[in-house]
Amino acid sequence: MTLPSRWPAVLQAVMKGQPRALADSHYPQWHLAPVTGLMNDPNGFIFFAGRYHLFYQWNPLGCDHRYKCWGHWRSDDLVHWHHEPLALMPDEEYDRNGCYSGSAVDNRGVLTLCYTGNVKFDDGSRTAWQCLAEEQEDGSFKKCGPVLALPEGYTGHVRDPKVWQHEGMWYMVLGAQDWQQRGKVLLFRSEDLHSWQPCGEIAGQGLNGLEDAGYMWECPDLFALDGTHVLICCPQGLAREPHRYLNTYPAAWMSGAFDYERATFEHGALRELDAGFEFYAPQTALAEDGRRILIGWMGVPDGEEMLQPTRAQGWIHQMTCPRELRYRDGRLWQTPVRELQRLREAERQWQGYASDAPILDAARLEFELIAPCVTVDFAGALRLIVEKNGVRLERASLQTGETLTRYWLGDVRHLRVLCDRSSVEIFINEGEGVMSSRYFPDAPAQIRFEGASNITLRYWSLRSCM
Ligand code: FRU
Repeated sequence: MTLPSRWPAVLQAVMKGQPRALADSHYPQWHLAPVTGLMNDPNGFIFFAGRYHLFYQWNPLGCDHRYKCWGHWRSDDLVHWHHEPLALMPDEEYDRNGCYSGSAVDNRGVLTLCYTGNVKFDDGSRTAWQCLAEEQEDGSFKKCGPVLALPEGYTGHVRDPKVWQHEGMWYMVLGAQDWQQRGKVLLFRSEDLHSWQPCGEIAGQGLNGLEDAGYMWECPDLFALDGTHVLICCPQGLAREPHRYLNTYPAAWMSGAFDYERATFEHGALRELDAGFEFYAPQTALAEDGRRILIGWMGVPDGEEMLQPTRAQGWIHQMTCPRELRYRDGRLWQTPVRELQRLREAERQWQGYASDAPILDAARLEFELIAPCVTVDFAGALRLIVEKNGVRLERASLQTGETLTRYWLGDVRHLRVLCDRSSVEIFINEGEGVMSSRYFPDAPAQIRFEGASNITLRYWSLRSCM
């Protein structure tokens, strides 16, 4: 791959395309999305020196998975975000095929990025370097170069460092594939972020009773939560089951006991983190007040993404809303961050037969629904079918037109749905389950309730904040 030779000039030219994206009727009004090009994983999510920073995988040069840079947003409140200059570009030998995903840490007051330098060779093989970059006084990032080469025993698929500090030591988890093509999570330890010692594999296929758990695990994130440890990761190659793991790749979580001394993680079963059509590569950060906040990419690689209509307008993909995580009763609960309630306009309520309910404008809307059985139709492009023992989400395949279905199974007591112009996030039972999905309705998009049962609705229009 040849690199664009004069990045800044190229970027300037590319950014002229942004009015087209912003005028697109599918462009989000309150979710993060690229102003041009392709965005994927959230990276470097951190609360640092009084502000939130969120970086992201970004190809500003087109709507495909090439030229991965780190874009950068900053926020005071997790609701309003400001664009910052591009943080990292793949302009060194060691990251020439992409500044891949990673995290951010506060290293004695210096905002420091930990990312993967991805290098591909002509014979189809690749290598990966774990690299650092430090924020300068002018807000730019200076690369410090690689700090970790490929560990022995693994293919070139070793990436996505999530780094944190614990009792004076730095720790890093990495997604990896071993020579037997088994997906793994590796742990490393360092005193200074520059020199890293391997501590072994802490999770993956063949460990802790996990069989058939995929050929590559991406984007691991390990953290303490409500008295346990949670590992989030994206195992590629999990077999589809009738009601879960139905996307090309899933995002999953497991909880258990992490032992820093022995570098072991004894965990329970692998579970799907989000049951919708689009959710991948989430990353968490600690909020100022200690809440564990998650943001995910509302997309999935290698599926039907390249058929999404926004590509014709020069942009593709968006983030999920930020979510608070809690661990309770053996489950991981996700709820929209409470700060998002600031976007609510006047509250309205309605009760009666579903088919008599008001038609709602789907563009910027939050609604809460209590109903034994109801179907919610989103502009004829997405259908949410609520039954007593579960929820189904139906959408036509962009490729074949056939109806695709995603499931959440369990007793449904309450639904909270957050809508933007081309996305819905469905929170079941105050966060026991979540389904995130994109859809591409004709504007103006309307939501209709169908069915004979009695429903109780509370709803709000949301202010635009992007
Ligand atoms: C996940 C992922 C990461 C990688 C990045 C490249 O979506 O494949 O493993 O670092 O995207 O953009």
